Amino acid sequence: MKTLDSAGHSIYFETGLAPMTDIINSEKYSKVFVFVDRNTAESCLPIFQEMLEDYTGFDLIETDPGEENKNIDFCIGIWKTLLDFEADRKCLMINLGGGVITDMGGFVASTYKRGIDFINIPTTLLSQVDASVGGKTGIDIDNVKNMVGTFSLPQAVFIETLFLKSLPERELLSGFAEMIKHGLIADANYFHQLKSSNYKEVSAEAIYRSVEIKNEVVTEDPYERGLRKILNYGHTIGHAVETYSLINDKRPLNHGEAIAVGMICEGFLSVKNNTLKEEELAEVTSYLLGLYPKYEIKTKSHEELIQFMQSDKKNEDGQIMFSLLNSIGSCAYNCRVTKQDILDSLNHFNKQFKA
Ligand SMILES: NC(=O)c1ccc[n+]([C@@H]2O[C@H](COP(=O)([O-])OP(=O)(O)OC[C@H]3O[C@@H](n4cnc5c(N)ncnc54)[C@H](O)[C@@H]3O)[C@@H](O)[C@H]2O)c1
Ligand SMILES: [Zn+2]
Repeated sequence: MKTLDSAGHSIYFETGLAPMTDIINSEKYSKVFVFVDRNTAESCLPIFQEMLEDYTGFDLIETDPGEENKNIDFCIGIWKTLLDFEADRKCLMINLGGGVITDMGGFVASTYKRGIDFINIPTTLLSQVDASVGGKTGIDIDNVKNMVGTFSLPQAVFIETLFLKSLPERELLSGFAEMIKHGLIADANYFHQLKSSNYKEVSAEAIYRSVEIKNEVVTEDPYERGLRKILNYGHTIGHAVETYSLINDKRPLNHGEAIAVGMICEGFLSVKNNTLKEEELAEVTSYLLGLYPKYEIKTKSHEELIQFMQSDKKNEDGQIMFSLLNSIGSCAYNCRVTKQDILDSLNHFNKQFKA
Protein backbone atom coordinates (compact mmCIF):
# COMPACT_ATOMS: atom_id res chain seq x y z
CA MET A 1 0.00 0.00 0.00
CA LYS A 2 2.35 2.76 1.20
CA THR A 3 5.75 3.44 2.69
CA LEU A 4 6.63 5.95 5.41
CA ASP A 5 10.10 7.31 5.90
CA SER A 6 11.29 7.25 9.49
CA ALA A 7 14.73 8.63 10.36
CA GLY A 8 16.48 6.83 7.52
CA HIS A 9 14.55 3.57 7.52
CA SER A 10 11.24 2.67 5.93
CA ILE A 11 7.97 1.56 7.47
CA TYR A 12 6.27 -0.62 4.84
CA PHE A 13 2.48 -0.91 4.88
CA GLU A 14 0.69 -3.86 3.38
CA THR A 15 3.45 -4.31 0.83
CA GLY A 16 4.03 -7.97 1.55
CA LEU A 17 7.55 -9.02 2.49
CA ALA A 18 9.22 -8.79 -0.91
CA PRO A 19 11.09 -5.57 0.07
CA MET A 20 12.51 -7.51 3.02
CA THR A 21 14.09 -10.17 0.83
CA ASP A 22 15.58 -7.33 -1.21
CA ILE A 23 17.13 -5.87 1.99
CA ILE A 24 18.43 -9.28 3.06
CA ASN A 25 19.97 -9.91 -0.36
CA SER A 26 21.45 -6.43 -0.79
CA GLU A 27 23.13 -6.36 2.63
CA LYS A 28 24.53 -9.89 2.24
CA TYR A 29 23.85 -10.92 5.82
CA SER A 30 25.94 -13.83 7.09
CA LYS A 31 22.93 -15.36 8.90
CA VAL A 32 19.29 -14.45 9.44
CA PHE A 33 17.45 -15.17 12.68
CA VAL A 34 13.72 -14.92 13.20
CA PHE A 35 12.73 -14.18 16.81
CA VAL A 36 9.24 -15.30 17.85
CA ASP A 37 7.29 -16.28 20.94
CA ARG A 38 5.28 -19.48 21.18
CA ASN A 39 2.06 -17.76 20.07
CA THR A 40 3.54 -15.96 17.10
CA ALA A 41 5.39 -19.14 16.12
CA GLU A 42 1.98 -20.77 15.86
CA SER A 43 -0.14 -17.94 14.40
CA CYS A 44 2.26 -15.73 12.47
CA LEU A 45 5.21 -17.81 11.35
CA PRO A 46 3.18 -19.78 8.76
CA ILE A 47 1.92 -16.48 7.23
CA PHE A 48 5.45 -15.09 7.33
CA GLN A 49 6.81 -18.16 5.54
CA GLU A 50 4.06 -18.05 2.94
CA MET A 51 4.77 -14.38 2.26
CA LEU A 52 8.46 -15.12 1.81
CA GLU A 53 7.65 -17.80 -0.74
CA ASP A 54 10.91 -19.56 -1.54
CA TYR A 55 13.14 -17.82 1.02
CA THR A 56 13.88 -20.24 3.84
CA GLY A 57 17.41 -19.36 4.88
CA PHE A 58 16.77 -18.42 8.50
CA ASP A 59 17.15 -19.95 11.94
CA LEU A 60 14.40 -19.64 14.52
CA ILE A 61 14.76 -18.35 18.08
CA GLU A 62 11.64 -18.96 20.16
CA THR A 63 10.78 -17.66 23.61
CA ASP A 64 7.84 -17.95 26.03
CA PRO A 65 5.13 -15.33 25.50
CA GLY A 66 4.24 -12.52 27.90
CA GLU A 67 5.61 -9.45 29.64
CA GLU A 68 7.02 -11.58 32.49
CA ASN A 69 9.58 -12.94 30.01
CA LYS A 70 10.80 -9.52 28.88
CA ASN A 71 13.77 -9.77 31.21
CA ILE A 72 17.52 -10.10 31.31
CA ASP A 73 17.49 -13.89 31.81
CA PHE A 74 15.77 -14.38 28.48
CA CYS A 75 18.18 -11.94 26.83
CA ILE A 76 21.15 -13.94 28.12
CA GLY A 77 19.53 -17.07 26.68
CA ILE A 78 19.16 -15.39 23.29
CA TRP A 79 22.71 -13.96 23.29
CA LYS A 80 24.03 -17.47 24.08
CA THR A 81 21.92 -18.97 21.31
CA LEU A 82 23.37 -16.43 18.88
CA LEU A 83 26.86 -17.42 20.04
CA ASP A 84 26.03 -21.12 19.63
CA PHE A 85 24.99 -20.38 16.07
CA GLU A 86 28.31 -18.53 15.63
CA ALA A 87 26.45 -15.36 14.72
CA ASP A 88 28.85 -12.57 13.77
CA ARG A 89 28.22 -8.82 13.46
CA LYS A 90 26.95 -9.24 9.93
CA CYS A 91 23.87 -11.20 10.92
CA LEU A 92 20.28 -9.97 10.94
CA MET A 93 17.51 -10.46 13.48
CA ILE A 94 13.87 -10.35 12.36
CA ASN A 95 11.49 -9.73 15.27
CA LEU A 96 8.13 -11.31 14.49
CA GLY A 97 5.71 -10.65 17.34
CA GLY A 98 4.08 -8.16 19.66
CA GLY A 99 5.73 -5.39 21.65
CA VAL A 100 7.51 -7.85 23.94
CA ILE A 101 9.27 -9.44 20.97
CA THR A 102 10.09 -6.15 19.18
CA ASP A 103 11.28 -4.49 22.43
CA MET A 104 13.37 -7.43 23.63
CA GLY A 105 14.52 -8.50 20.15
CA GLY A 106 15.57 -4.93 19.40
CA PHE A 107 17.44 -4.73 22.70
CA VAL A 108 19.24 -8.05 22.17
CA ALA A 109 20.17 -7.05 18.60
CA SER A 110 21.33 -3.54 19.52
CA THR A 111 23.70 -4.92 22.17
CA TYR A 112 24.93 -8.24 20.72
CA LYS A 113 28.56 -7.67 19.66
CA ARG A 114 27.81 -3.93 20.05
CA GLY A 115 24.92 -4.08 17.65
CA ILE A 116 23.58 -6.09 14.74
CA ASP A 117 20.83 -5.11 12.29
CA PHE A 118 17.22 -5.93 13.02
CA ILE A 119 13.86 -5.71 11.27
CA ASN A 120 10.52 -5.43 13.08
CA ILE A 121 7.39 -7.22 11.92
CA PRO A 122 4.84 -6.27 14.59
CA THR A 123 1.94 -8.72 14.91
CA THR A 124 -0.29 -7.08 17.56
CA LEU A 125 -2.26 -3.88 17.00
CA LEU A 126 -0.37 -2.30 19.89
CA SER A 127 3.02 -3.08 18.42
CA GLN A 128 1.94 -1.97 14.93
CA VAL A 129 0.73 1.47 16.02
CA ASP A 130 3.17 2.03 18.85
CA ALA A 131 5.94 -0.33 20.02
CA SER A 132 7.67 -0.98 16.71
CA VAL A 133 7.91 2.68 15.72
CA GLY A 134 10.25 5.19 17.34
CA GLY A 135 13.40 3.24 18.11
CA LYS A 136 12.90 2.46 21.80
CA THR A 137 14.03 -1.02 22.80
CA GLY A 138 14.07 -2.41 26.32
CA ILE A 139 13.49 -4.99 29.00
CA ASP A 140 12.06 -4.97 32.53
CA ILE A 141 14.16 -5.32 35.68
CA ASP A 142 12.44 -6.73 38.79
CA ASN A 143 9.07 -6.06 37.15
CA VAL A 144 9.89 -2.37 36.67
CA LYS A 145 8.97 -1.76 33.07
CA ASN A 146 11.55 -0.81 30.45
CA MET A 147 14.25 -0.03 33.00
CA VAL A 148 17.11 -1.01 30.71
CA GLY A 149 17.15 -0.34 27.00
CA THR A 150 18.54 1.53 24.04
CA PHE A 151 17.41 3.92 21.37
CA SER A 152 18.11 1.84 18.24
CA LEU A 153 16.45 2.01 14.88
CA PRO A 154 15.51 -1.07 12.87
CA GLN A 155 16.54 -1.46 9.23
CA ALA A 156 12.85 -1.54 8.35
CA VAL A 157 9.39 -2.14 9.80
CA PHE A 158 6.71 -4.19 8.01
CA ILE A 159 3.09 -3.67 8.98
CA GLU A 160 0.75 -6.34 7.63
CA THR A 161 -2.80 -6.36 8.97
CA LEU A 162 -3.14 -10.03 7.99
CA PHE A 163 -1.26 -10.90 11.17
CA LEU A 164 -4.04 -9.36 13.29
CA LYS A 165 -6.59 -11.99 12.24
CA SER A 166 -5.53 -14.38 15.02
CA LEU A 167 -5.24 -11.68 17.69
CA PRO A 168 -7.65 -12.08 20.65
CA GLU A 169 -10.24 -9.27 20.92
CA ARG A 170 -8.89 -8.07 24.25
CA GLU A 171 -5.45 -7.54 22.66
CA LEU A 172 -7.04 -5.68 19.75
CA LEU A 173 -8.81 -3.33 22.14
CA SER A 174 -5.57 -2.77 24.02
CA GLY A 175 -3.87 -1.45 20.88
CA PHE A 176 -6.95 0.56 19.98
CA ALA A 177 -6.41 2.66 23.13
CA GLU A 178 -3.13 3.93 21.67
CA MET A 179 -4.92 4.84 18.44
CA ILE A 180 -7.52 6.82 20.39
CA LYS A 181 -4.63 8.54 22.17
CA HIS A 182 -3.09 9.51 18.82
CA GLY A 183 -6.36 11.18 17.83
CA LEU A 184 -6.68 12.95 21.16
CA ILE A 185 -3.17 14.40 21.13
CA ALA A 186 -2.82 15.28 17.45
CA ASP A 187 -5.87 14.96 15.19
CA ALA A 188 -9.48 15.65 16.22
CA ASN A 189 -10.86 14.39 12.89
CA TYR A 190 -9.05 11.10 13.32
CA PHE A 191 -10.43 10.79 16.87
CA HIS A 192 -13.97 11.26 15.56
CA GLN A 193 -13.37 8.77 12.75
CA LEU A 194 -12.24 6.18 15.28
CA LYS A 195 -15.27 6.96 17.43
CA SER A 196 -17.62 6.10 14.61
CA SER A 197 -15.72 2.93 13.68
CA ASN A 198 -15.72 -0.58 15.11
CA TYR A 199 -12.45 -1.59 16.73
CA LYS A 200 -13.07 -5.21 15.70
CA GLU A 201 -12.77 -4.12 12.09
CA VAL A 202 -9.90 -1.71 12.48
CA SER A 203 -8.81 -0.52 9.02
CA ALA A 204 -5.34 -0.44 7.51
CA GLU A 205 -5.93 3.29 6.83
CA ALA A 206 -6.54 3.99 10.52
CA ILE A 207 -3.40 2.03 11.49
CA TYR A 208 -1.49 4.02 8.89
CA ARG A 209 -2.75 7.34 10.33
CA SER A 210 -1.70 6.30 13.84
CA VAL A 211 1.77 5.31 12.71
CA GLU A 212 2.02 8.55 10.74
CA ILE A 213 1.19 10.58 13.88
CA LYS A 214 3.65 8.66 16.05
CA ASN A 215 6.30 8.85 13.36
CA GLU A 216 5.92 12.63 12.94
CA VAL A 217 6.33 13.14 16.68
CA VAL A 218 9.35 10.84 17.14
CA THR A 219 11.06 12.16 14.03
CA GLU A 220 10.89 15.67 15.44
CA ASP A 221 12.05 14.63 18.91
CA PRO A 222 13.73 11.18 18.79
CA TYR A 223 15.16 11.29 22.34
CA GLU A 224 12.09 12.62 24.16
CA ARG A 225 13.54 15.99 25.10
CA GLY A 226 10.22 17.73 24.48
CA LEU A 227 7.44 17.05 21.99
CA ARG A 228 7.70 13.24 22.20
CA LYS A 229 6.34 13.52 25.73
CA ILE A 230 2.84 14.11 24.31
CA LEU A 231 2.79 10.39 23.49
CA ASN A 232 2.64 9.87 27.25
CA TYR A 233 -0.87 11.28 27.45
CA GLY A 234 -2.85 8.94 29.73
CA HIS A 235 0.32 7.11 30.70
CA THR A 236 1.36 8.83 33.94
CA ILE A 237 -1.75 7.70 35.79
CA GLY A 238 -2.28 4.77 33.38
CA HIS A 239 1.11 3.18 34.11
CA ALA A 240 0.57 3.54 37.86
CA VAL A 241 -2.85 1.87 37.57
CA GLU A 242 -1.34 -0.86 35.35
CA THR A 243 1.42 -1.62 37.87
CA TYR A 244 -1.01 -1.55 40.81
CA SER A 245 -3.43 -3.83 38.99
CA LEU A 246 -0.67 -6.27 38.07
CA ILE A 247 0.29 -6.65 41.72
CA ASN A 248 -3.17 -6.59 43.31
CA ASP A 249 -5.89 -7.73 40.92
CA LYS A 250 -6.86 -11.32 40.17
CA ARG A 251 -7.40 -10.42 36.52
CA PRO A 252 -5.03 -7.49 35.98
CA LEU A 253 -5.75 -4.75 33.46
CA ASN A 254 -3.66 -4.91 30.31
CA HIS A 255 -1.77 -1.90 29.00
CA GLY A 256 -4.53 -0.41 26.85
CA GLU A 257 -7.20 -0.91 29.51
CA ALA A 258 -5.02 0.90 32.05
CA ILE A 259 -4.24 3.69 29.59
CA ALA A 260 -7.97 4.16 28.99
CA VAL A 261 -8.36 4.78 32.74
CA GLY A 262 -5.37 7.14 32.59
CA MET A 263 -6.80 9.07 29.64
CA ILE A 264 -10.03 9.73 31.56
CA CYS A 265 -8.19 10.84 34.72
CA GLU A 266 -5.73 12.99 32.78
CA GLY A 267 -8.67 14.42 30.79
CA PHE A 268 -10.03 15.63 34.13
CA LEU A 269 -6.63 17.22 34.89
CA SER A 270 -6.67 18.77 31.42
CA VAL A 271 -9.96 20.52 32.23
CA LYS A 272 -8.55 21.74 35.55
CA ASN A 273 -5.13 22.82 34.31
CA ASN A 274 -5.36 23.33 30.57
CA THR A 275 -8.07 24.45 28.25
CA LEU A 276 -9.90 21.19 27.57
CA LYS A 277 -13.65 21.87 27.74
CA GLU A 278 -15.99 20.00 30.11
CA GLU A 279 -18.04 18.82 27.09
CA GLU A 280 -14.90 17.41 25.46
CA LEU A 281 -14.02 15.52 28.64
CA ALA A 282 -17.56 14.16 28.80
CA GLU A 283 -17.28 12.98 25.17
CA VAL A 284 -13.92 11.25 25.74
CA THR A 285 -15.08 9.72 29.02
CA SER A 286 -18.31 8.23 27.71
CA TYR A 287 -16.54 6.86 24.63
CA LEU A 288 -13.80 5.15 26.66
CA LEU A 289 -16.19 3.84 29.33
CA GLY A 290 -18.31 2.31 26.57
CA LEU A 291 -15.32 0.43 25.15
CA TYR A 292 -13.27 -0.69 28.14
CA PRO A 293 -14.23 -2.85 31.13
CA LYS A 294 -15.48 -1.32 34.33
CA TYR A 295 -12.71 -0.72 36.85
CA GLU A 296 -12.76 0.72 40.35
CA ILE A 297 -9.80 2.72 41.67
CA LYS A 298 -10.09 1.93 45.36
CA THR A 299 -9.43 4.80 47.81
CA LYS A 300 -6.97 2.58 49.70
CA SER A 301 -4.85 2.39 46.53
CA HIS A 302 -4.44 6.16 46.13
CA GLU A 303 -1.19 6.58 48.08
CA GLU A 304 0.43 3.61 46.34
CA LEU A 305 -0.65 4.99 42.96
CA ILE A 306 0.93 8.37 43.79
CA GLN A 307 4.14 6.55 44.77
CA PHE A 308 4.22 4.74 41.43
CA MET A 309 3.72 8.07 39.67
CA GLN A 310 6.57 9.58 41.68
CA SER A 311 8.95 6.84 40.57
CA ASP A 312 8.09 7.36 36.88
CA LYS A 313 11.38 7.78 35.01
CA LYS A 314 9.95 10.72 33.09
CA ASN A 315 9.72 12.99 36.14
CA GLU A 316 12.02 15.94 36.67
CA ASP A 317 13.28 17.15 40.08
CA GLY A 318 10.93 14.78 41.86
CA GLN A 319 7.90 16.52 40.31
CA ILE A 320 5.29 14.35 38.58
CA MET A 321 5.02 15.65 35.02
CA PHE A 322 1.92 15.31 32.86
CA SER A 323 1.06 15.67 29.21
CA LEU A 324 -2.37 17.29 29.12
CA LEU A 325 -4.88 18.09 26.40
CA ASN A 326 -5.53 21.67 25.31
CA SER A 327 -8.48 20.39 23.32
CA ILE A 328 -9.34 17.16 21.49
CA GLY A 329 -6.52 16.97 18.93
CA SER A 330 -3.93 19.10 20.76
CA CYS A 331 -1.64 18.27 23.66
CA ALA A 332 0.86 20.13 25.88
CA TYR A 333 3.72 18.55 27.85
CA ASN A 334 5.66 19.25 31.07
CA CYS A 335 2.47 20.22 32.90
CA ARG A 336 2.71 20.27 36.70
CA VAL A 337 -0.32 19.52 38.82
CA THR A 338 -0.90 19.29 42.57
CA LYS A 339 -1.23 16.02 44.45
CA GLN A 340 -4.78 17.05 45.40
CA ASP A 341 -5.68 17.44 41.72
CA ILE A 342 -4.39 13.93 41.02
CA LEU A 343 -6.47 12.53 43.90
CA ASP A 344 -9.50 14.46 42.61
CA SER A 345 -8.98 12.95 39.16
CA LEU A 346 -8.98 9.42 40.65
CA ASN A 347 -12.19 10.20 42.54
CA HIS A 348 -13.69 11.71 39.40
CA PHE A 349 -13.00 8.44 37.59
CA ASN A 350 -14.89 6.38 40.18
CA LYS A 351 -17.84 8.80 40.22
CA GLN A 352 -18.50 8.02 36.55
CA PHE A 353 -19.84 4.60 37.48
CA LYS A 354 -21.97 5.85 40.32
CA ALA A 355 -23.59 8.60 38.27
N1 LIG B 1 9.16 0.52 22.39
C1 LIG B 1 8.09 1.26 22.51
O1 LIG B 1 8.05 2.42 22.10
C2 LIG B 1 6.86 0.66 23.13
C3 LIG B 1 5.64 1.33 23.04
C4 LIG B 1 4.51 0.71 23.57
C5 LIG B 1 4.61 -0.54 24.18
N2 LIG B 1 5.81 -1.14 24.26
C6 LIG B 1 5.94 -2.47 24.89
O2 LIG B 1 5.15 -3.41 24.18
C7 LIG B 1 4.76 -4.45 25.06
C8 LIG B 1 3.30 -4.74 24.88
O3 LIG B 1 3.06 -5.10 23.53
P1 LIG B 1 1.98 -6.19 23.13
O4 LIG B 1 0.68 -5.84 23.72
O5 LIG B 1 2.09 -6.37 21.67
O6 LIG B 1 2.48 -7.47 23.97
P2 LIG B 1 2.93 -8.94 23.60
O7 LIG B 1 4.08 -9.00 22.70
O8 LIG B 1 3.06 -9.62 24.92
O9 LIG B 1 1.65 -9.53 22.81
C9 LIG B 1 0.45 -9.77 23.50
C10 LIG B 1 0.05 -11.26 23.36
O10 LIG B 1 -0.38 -11.53 22.03
C11 LIG B 1 0.33 -12.64 21.48
N3 LIG B 1 0.39 -12.41 20.06
C12 LIG B 1 1.20 -11.56 19.38
N4 LIG B 1 0.84 -11.49 18.09
C13 LIG B 1 -0.20 -12.34 17.94
C14 LIG B 1 -1.03 -12.68 16.83
N5 LIG B 1 -0.89 -12.11 15.64
N6 LIG B 1 -2.01 -13.60 17.03
C15 LIG B 1 -2.22 -14.15 18.25
N7 LIG B 1 -1.50 -13.84 19.35
C16 LIG B 1 -0.50 -12.93 19.18
C17 LIG B 1 1.63 -12.66 22.22
O11 LIG B 1 2.23 -13.92 22.21
C18 LIG B 1 1.19 -12.25 23.63
O12 LIG B 1 0.68 -13.35 24.31
C19 LIG B 1 5.12 -4.00 26.45
O13 LIG B 1 6.26 -4.70 26.88
C20 LIG B 1 5.43 -2.52 26.28
O14 LIG B 1 6.39 -2.07 27.22
C21 LIG B 1 6.93 -0.58 23.74
ZN1 LIG C 1 1.17 2.91 25.79
